[in-house]
Amino acid sequence: MINVAVLGYGVVGSGVVEVIKKNCSSISRRAGDDIAVKKILDIRDFDDAPDKELLTKNAEDVFGDESISIVVETIGGARIAYEFTKRALKLGKHVVTSNKELVATHGPELLRLARENGVNYLFEASVGGGIPIIRPLNQCLAANEIHGITGILNGTTNYILTQMKREGKDFSEALKGAQQNGYAEADPTADIEGHDACRKIAILSSIAYNEFVDYNNIYTEGITRITLADMQYAEVMDSAIKLVAMSEKKGDRIFARVSPAIVGKDHPLATVEDVFNAIVVKGDAIGDAMFYGRGAGKLPTASAVVADIIDIVKHIDNSVPNVWNVRETNNMVDINDTETGYFIRLKTRNREEAEKLVNRAFGRVTLVNPPNSGFADELAFITGKDKEKQLKLALESLKGTGSVREVAGVIRVLDE
Ligand code: HSE
Repeated sequence: MINVAVLGYGVVGSGVVEVIKKNCSSISRRAGDDIAVKKILDIRDFDDAPDKELLTKNAEDVFGDESISIVVETIGGARIAYEFTKRALKLGKHVVTSNKELVATHGPELLRLARENGVNYLFEASVGGGIPIIRPLNQCLAANEIHGITGILNGTTNYILTQMKREGKDFSEALKGAQQNGYAEADPTADIEGHDACRKIAILSSIAYNEFVDYNNIYTEGITRITLADMQYAEVMDSAIKLVAMSEKKGDRIFARVSPAIVGKDHPLATVEDVFNAIVVKGDAIGDAMFYGRGAGKLPTASAVVADIIDIVKHIDNSVPNVWNVRETNNMVDINDTETGYFIRLKTRNREEAEKLVNRAFGRVTLVNPPNSGFADELAFITGKDKEKQLKLALESLKGTGSVREVAGVIRVLDE
């Protein structure tokens, strides 16, 4: 019998307990041993919880119990979760988590600690919810040189953007719906400002390029400035607007970015809707491989956590090798030195004059038709691909000119 403790009885933690109970016989068969939840640690009261008898507020009931060999950390954040994870690993307990913030912040240290203590620190559920992606990157695609990852890694923002596009809801109305459905983090800032997707692309990139990518070095822009007008233009361009997290390896340099992007309808990410996530991995041997599924929610995320538990039980006496190296030097390319195309909307006083200025500032651009007569004062266009710093300079040169009133929107165009 393998005893498990669950730290944090929130959405994911309670899902883990539910899945282990519901599928106990098939899980035991696959793992080669019986698995049971012995304790659930949470400081809150859960009077009506189905697992009431397992709940404790005393951490010693977990850490002082030698019969508990696997700890599931579903507390979230990088404070108490960090302390508990270190404590568990030092005591020789395996740790499984869905906590992307902790992995992205302290992953190198926690993996080292796990190795030193002969146990595992596994985090399949930290990226892509129920989608298997960490293990495929780390193991199944290990023969490849991976040179790029492009993904929709946040279910909440994808849900919001889908609602804006499909139902014509504005941003705040769509956010409310995401919160009511339990997709958004307690503080939705992490979702809508792109921080959640940033941590996830940092984790994936670290594994893919075998080099720790610090999320603090990743350019990150959220979806709060995307409007229904942008959505209408995207429709005209036969495209969708998505929050895209991407990274590329060029030589020994890495570039990563999180930002909204115009995604053409023929791109595989364009049709990924609602709370679904998708990740396209580019490898030199495999070409493109896409992983798709539910990126958020109780049971999909619990499914990935429980799969890690099963993996540990199957290989109970082995610890996994290190999944990334840590380099001291900054390996990240600055956003300004990377190339992209911009979709730009200008409010004009004189559309014809503005068009001349735009062509002078950007060289050749592709004009985008206004969605309807309500946009008669706007000039919208897609620039050619250029360094971000050049595009920003060109845009800056238009501001304050007589014919351009204001910049109404700038969105990158995805062309990978
Ligand atoms: N808030 C996250 C999302 C949960 O919406 O994707 C899963 O990490």
